[in-house]
Amino acid sequence: MQLIARRVREAGVFSLLVRPDASFEELRKHNPKGIILSGGPSSVHESGSPRCDPRLFEVGCPVLGICYGMQLGAEMLGGAVTPSNHREYGRAHLDGMVASDFFKGVPSHAQVWMSHGDQVTTLGPGFEVLARTPTCPLAAVRHGEKKFYGVQFHPEVTHTPQGAAMLQNFLFEVCHCRGSWSMADYMQTECDRIRERVGNSRVICGLSGGVDSSVVAALLARAIGRQLCCIFVDNGLLRKNERELVERTFREHFDIDLRVVDAASRFLGDLAGIEEPQEKRRRIGHRFIDVFKDEARHVDGEVRFLAQGTLYPDVIESGHGHSGKAANIKLHHNVGGLPEELGFELIEPLRMLFKDEARTLGKVLGLPQEIVWRHPFPGPGLAVRVLGEVTLPKLEVLRECDQILLDEIHSAGLYGSTSQVFAVLTPVKSVGVMGDGRTYDNVVAIRAVTTEDFMTADWARIPYDVLATISNRIINEVRGVNRVVYDISSKPPATIEWE
Ligand code: XMP
Repeated sequence: MQLIARRVREAGVFSLLVRPDASFEELRKHNPKGIILSGGPSSVHESGSPRCDPRLFEVGCPVLGICYGMQLGAEMLGGAVTPSNHREYGRAHLDGMVASDFFKGVPSHAQVWMSHGDQVTTLGPGFEVLARTPTCPLAAVRHGEKKFYGVQFHPEVTHTPQGAAMLQNFLFEVCHCRGSWSMADYMQTECDRIRERVGNSRVICGLSGGVDSSVVAALLARAIGRQLCCIFVDNGLLRKNERELVERTFREHFDIDLRVVDAASRFLGDLAGIEEPQEKRRRIGHRFIDVFKDEARHVDGEVRFLAQGTLYPDVIESGHGHSGKAANIKLHHNVGGLPEELGFELIEPLRMLFKDEARTLGKVLGLPQEIVWRHPFPGPGLAVRVLGEVTLPKLEVLRECDQILLDEIHSAGLYGSTSQVFAVLTPVKSVGVMGDGRTYDNVVAIRAVTTEDFMTADWARIPYDVLATISNRIINEVRGVNRVVYDISSKPPATIEWE
C-alpha cells in the first residue's frame, strides 16, 4: 500500500493513503484525479474484509484496483470472485493483450508478479478483458463507463518490470494527471500554510540533530524566521562533537533562535546506579520533558505551537490503529506527553512524507549532506549503548570508539550503504596482553546493519580489512578497551540496539 503511494509520488503525482472505508464525502473532499484500491491479504468472502463506500464509482474519477482491490471493484460492479485455498505466487506472462490506454507502450508478453488466492471469474456487464495469463483468464480488465481498471497482478513491485509504466499510464493516460508535483512545490505550499496558521505566534521545536527534526527546523526557519525557537538539549549522551555539529549547521545556514541547554549533569545524575534499560529510558524521557518545559518557559512572546518531525509511516500506523509488533516497538522508544503536558498545538509538516522524501525536502532547504543522510540515533542516545550503569568515564570510552568506527566507515565509503552503525560498550572484561603486561579491560561490540524500515534488519557485510582497521585503531587508541567483536545477529530475533 505504501509502496503504491510512493510509486505514484515518484511519478510526480501527489498521493494520499486513506482507509478503505473512507466515506464518499471524504473521498470527494480530496478532489482526487484518480483512486487506487490496493491489494491485501483478505478475501472478499470473509466477513469483516475491507469494503469501500458503495458510491465509490460516483466520486467521478477513474479507479484502479490491484489484486484484492480488483476483486472488490469487480464484485461491486456485478462480477463474481471465486475463493481459492491455494495461492498463485510468482512470475507470469501476460497474453492476449488488448491495445488500451493502460497498456500503452507495454510489450504484449510483459512479465508480471502474481500473489493471490481468490480470483475474479465472472465479470459484470460493461467489462472488457485487457489481458490474461495461462492461469488467470482475467488478469487485467476495464469497465469503460465506470472508468474502473482492475489488475490481478502487482504493478507496484519490481518483479513486474513494466509495472511503473502501467501505473504511469493510469496516472497520465487515464487520469490525466500532470506529474508536476515536486518537493520544491511541497516546501512552498507548506511554508504558506505554516505562516497562515501561526500568524504572529511563536513556535517551539525540539531539535535533536536527527534528519526529521532538522528538516522541520529548517522548514520552519524558512517559513517564519525568528518566530521559531529551537531547543537543543545536550543530555550528555550524545556522540562526540554532535552538539557542535548541530550548532554550527543551524547557526551557519539559518538565521535561527537556537537555545542549547547543557543538561548533562542532570541526566547523568538520574542515571546513577540504574542498570535496567527500560528504567534508563524512562528516566531520560522524564528528564527530557522537564528540561524542555523549563526552557520553553523562557521563550518570550506567545508560544502556541510545538513543531515535530512525525513522518507519514507513523501517521499511517497510528491512524489505522495497528496494535501489532510495529506499534509496540515504537511505543517503547518514545515517552510522549510533551504536547499534552505543555498545552501546545502541534505542527507536523512532514506528516505526509516518507523518510526519503523528508531527506529530499532537507536537500531543497539547503541542509548539508552530513545531516540529510545521517543514520538514525536513538533518543536515549549512548545510554542504551553503555550496557549496565551509565557513567561519565564509560561514556567517554564509548564516544572515542564510536568516533573511530564512524571515521573508518566513512573513509571506506560504507556510510551510504549501511543503515546504522555504532559501537556498544559491554560490561564484559577480558584478558589481553599489551607490551609486557597483562590487561583486563572492556569488550566493545561493533554493530552495523542494513535495513529498509528498521523493523527487520540484517548485519552488514563489512569487508574484513575495514573491520581489522577499526579493531586495531580502537584497541590501540582507546584506553580501557582490549577486545573488539563484531555483532553478526539479524533482527529478528535480535534487535538493532543491544538494550
Ligand atoms: P531496535 O533496537 O528496536 O531499534 O531494533 C529500531 C530502531 O529504533 C532505534 N531505537 C530507538 N529510538 N528511542 C529512539 O528514539 C529509543 O529508545 C530507541 N531504541 C531503539 C534504533 O536505534 C533503531 O534505529
